[in-house]
Amino acid sequence: MFDTLRMFHILFGIFVGGTYIFMTLILEPRLRKLGPSVQTPVMRAITPILTPIMAASFTIILGTGIAMIFLLNPGALDTLWSTAWGWDIIIGAVATIIVMVIGFGLIVPTGIRLDKLGRSIEGRPPSPQEAQQLHHLSERVTKLTQTNFVFVAIAIITMVIARYL
Ligand code: HEM
Repeated sequence: MFDTLRMFHILFGIFVGGTYIFMTLILEPRLRKLGPSVQTPVMRAITPILTPIMAASFTIILGTGIAMIFLLNPGALDTLWSTAWGWDIIIGAVATIIVMVIGFGLIVPTGIRLDKLGRSIEGRPPSPQEAQQLHHLSERVTKLTQTNFVFVAIAIITMVIARYL
């Protein structure tokens, strides 16, 4: 049972961690170089697929993570606060929750605004004001994704060292 949970946890952890690493270090810097005429349509094409897949992955990571905490500490959850392992997992879990809040609470709504604006100017060049707004929203998505990358990195590091504590 524990091994199955751990396997799913690691698989989806790799997916979420890998996605953030790829987006932050490779995709976004490249797209920025190519300019808004490429960046905006690519981001608009990716977001509707990525958002539900990330939401499902985070749910699985959180669910399997909580289940593993219970299995590893049967009837003694309070020991979480008094062991290095417990603190390590708490820090990782909090970092994951921050990623979820920033991701679904801030990045997704900004992405929706970006998409709406993009749709309203399809088939014609954007006005200077619209171009500025598109740029502002894209920058916001990039900055928030970079912030989340830091918390994803914290989650990955705490999880990987957990076994050795
Ligand atoms: C993006 C977020 C996360 C990633 C990438 C991630 C990744 C991992 C990985 C790779 C391991 C295996 C470590 C090893 O065996 O060497 C692991 C273990 C574990 N994770 Fe996560 N995890 C994440 C979030 C969470 C959350 C939110 C919780 C709890 C609510 C959690 C609880 C655990 C537990 C209890 C273990 C077992 C540790 C042990 O064997 O001592 N994880 N995680």
